[in-house]
Amino acid sequence: FTAPSGYTEPTEGIEPAVPLRSKLWFNNPEDTMVGCYIERFLNNGLTMGELTNKRKPIIGIAQTGSDLAPCNSHHLQLAKRVRDGILAAGGTPFEFPCHPIQETAKRPTASLDRNLSYLSLVEVLFGYPLDGVVLLTGCDKTTPAMLMAAATMDIPAICMNVGPMLNGYAGSKYVGSGMVVWDSRAQLSAGEIDQDQFMRQVSLSAPSVGHCNTMGTASTMNAMAEALGMALPGSASIPAPYRERGACAYQTGQRIVQLVLQDVKPSDIMTKEAFENAIALCTAIGGSTNAPIHLNAVAKHIGVELNNDDWERVGYELPLLVNIQPAGQYLCEEYHRAGGLPSVAAELLKHDKLPHPNALTVSGKSIGDNCRGDFAQDPRVILPFDKPLMSQAGFLHLKGTLFDSAIMKTSVISPAFREQYLSNPNDPMAFEGPVAVFDGPEDYHHRIETEPEIHPGTILVMRGAGPVGYPGAAEVVNMIPPGRLIKEGIELPCIGDGRQSGTSGSPSILNAAPEAATGGMLGYLKDGDRLRIDLLKRQADVILTPEQIAKRKEELGPYKYPPHQTPWQEIYRNQVSELSEGMVLKDAVKYQRVAKRYPV
Ligand code: FES
Ligand code: MG
Repeated sequence: FTAPSGYTEPTEGIEPAVPLRSKLWFNNPEDTMVGCYIERFLNNGLTMGELTNKRKPIIGIAQTGSDLAPCNSHHLQLAKRVRDGILAAGGTPFEFPCHPIQETAKRPTASLDRNLSYLSLVEVLFGYPLDGVVLLTGCDKTTPAMLMAAATMDIPAICMNVGPMLNGYAGSKYVGSGMVVWDSRAQLSAGEIDQDQFMRQVSLSAPSVGHCNTMGTASTMNAMAEALGMALPGSASIPAPYRERGACAYQTGQRIVQLVLQDVKPSDIMTKEAFENAIALCTAIGGSTNAPIHLNAVAKHIGVELNNDDWERVGYELPLLVNIQPAGQYLCEEYHRAGGLPSVAAELLKHDKLPHPNALTVSGKSIGDNCRGDFAQDPRVILPFDKPLMSQAGFLHLKGTLFDSAIMKTSVISPAFREQYLSNPNDPMAFEGPVAVFDGPEDYHHRIETEPEIHPGTILVMRGAGPVGYPGAAEVVNMIPPGRLIKEGIELPCIGDGRQSGTSGSPSILNAAPEAATGGMLGYLKDGDRLRIDLLKRQADVILTPEQIAKRKEELGPYKYPPHQTPWQEIYRNQVSELSEGMVLKDAVKYQRVAKRYPV
């Protein structure tokens, strides 16, 4: 990692562009509380000057690593280098813990906690004497949670990813995070391996500290943070154990001090232009279907209009350039060595396909200036624009009588699926079939092997898996067919109001909104109803007359979902918006630039 020059000039003696907010606590003799504010930080070993010097910013380090959050736990080490960088640049570091969000362990689903972590971080950033913050990101929801909080608060902020794990191998064969779980599960249900082999296989995918080593949601969201301009160029893809990761931590610490002194805030960086750059790069890297949800959420909190039509408009036509799993072949180490996101951006730039090269980034330069000419070192891994892995690789935005909004990642449609469902020359890119309906993942797991009416051509529907239904929206729409069909090589289309893992290779139609639990049509389907999906027309319909639909709604009544299990689940369900709206807390969106609200 060699950061572009310009990060490391000394900041000592530079006058802050605006007075530092931390001095409202520490350097305000008028405030009768000033003694209390200061004395307890002195007891932490600090000196008076580190707190009260008007040129010394207090920098928060939002620590997301813990024993409960192993994907991010390497941040406990990296934070030491972030601190060194902050100190070297003349700031005072204050590290503090964040609510953990571990994708692979939190029940009912980690995404329930994205908004909780967001809320608590906003409260910490607002209520404590912090001038800027380093957001230690990594595992799937940690990155959007932190960006959302930085957006609401709007004090200078910079992201630093923990980095992906090293590649996993079985002999000389790649074993990629997430993917190995889906593949091994299919092998297990087809009777090809036993439980012991299953566990051995999946453990091979996690050979070191770090987050998932595929282009899952973690790699995607950290690439998105960099594409938005919120992380140092080239930083997102550095594998967690590489030495460059420590150097990057140090430079991130230095850089946040400068951002504070220059008063460069998230609202200066996360503009509509920045989001459009991120969408374009999301297609080129083969990013996760969770990206639209999370970026739409960040946009809502910073006050930028962004919706799934923007995703299709900006992203659909662009090609897939990054050859890593799940859409491609390699893993994150090769991706990083090939040049990571700057090389992908350089390729788009060269063909005039990065929408806004002049968008500002935390490096102090534009994304164009950061990346121009930084071409890929390995064309097998980051392909040239005119020889892409796939063209038109973005998300399709579907609408119809089945839902108002759902997306489909067409870049993962397999040749077999195309052949089976999308190859009728008289009706290209369209298919029709009867549904088998499941109410949430548990229902699916109980019945998938025993349900007699699932045949080639059946459309699997997952409902009750949206933000309210599950709650938090489960990553379960990528359903695998029953073992007897897998053995014959049959794939089945999946549709649902939940999400799917970013590491899934299924061509599912997901994130359907409104969800069943808030009155969406999926809640009124019965087994055997027929659906028609036309990808060319972006249309998804249930083949029922309006009269039949009205009768169905009367007969079935509102969709029932399981009771709340915790206080947060109830608060969340009462507040959360649909997946197409970013599943944000509705009442939180009106709070923008909240740093300005103190002092009153
Ligand atoms: Fe944490 Fe994939 S499970 S990054
Ligand atoms: Mg995931």
